[in-house]
Amino acid sequence: MQTRAQWPHLLPLLLLLCGGCTCVCGCNETEMLQRLPLCGKAFADMMHKVDVWKWCDLPEFVVYYNNFTLCTEEETIDVGCYWPNPLIQDFIIGIHQQFFSNCTVDRTHWEDPPDEVLIPLIVVPILLTFAMAGLVTWHNKCSGGRL
Ligand SMILES: *[C@@H]1O[C@H](CO)[C@@H](O)[C@H](O)[C@H]1NC(C)=O
Ligand SMILES: *[C@@H]1O[C@H](CO)[C@@H](O)[C@H](O)[C@H]1NC(C)=O
Ligand SMILES: *[C@@H]1O[C@H](CO)[C@@H](O)[C@H](O)[C@H]1NC(C)=O
Repeated sequence: MQTRAQWPHLLPLLLLLCGGCTCVCGCNETEMLQRLPLCGKAFADMMHKVDVWKWCDLPEFVVYYNNFTLCTEEETIDVGCYWPNPLIQDFIIGIHQQFFSNCTVDRTHWEDPPDEVLIPLIVVPILLTFAMAGLVTWHNKCSGGRL
């Protein structure tokens, strides 16, 4: 009875950890890599509605970018992988190169100081990856102990 009473307190923690563990175990990278281009294509379709000369103007497309990020996250978790992960990062970097490769070179396209906005977009997923990697390591130790 006492253990049951303690469950509600542990539940948020368990949910948090299991977000990492359930995902890693069933990850189907093949399927993830098949689904990601759909997100990329949706993003590309959106970007093509934006004037090319505005492609370096983040506020013009940040909604689509968020949509794209959400899409990769949903698809990744849907196939049982954790998000972000190195494959996702490669994919997102590819998208960046496709659309924003000229932005850093030609600074005149920037209307606002870009780095404050764009750097978090790039750095946060990377930090999250480190956090997730830590979590996975922790989980592996944890399940190893349990087995
Ligand atoms: C992963 O997904 C692919 C494509 O949908 C499928 O052919 C394959 O059987 C899946 N692999 C596993 C281990 O589920
Ligand atoms: C992302 O874009 C698609 C296609 O326009 C749309 O159907 C979907 O609702 C959008 N999702 C979000 C979270 O904005
Ligand atoms: C970048 O500039 C090159 C040369 O002007 C052009 O061919 C290419 O399409 C541009 N790429 C993007 C993403 O705007």
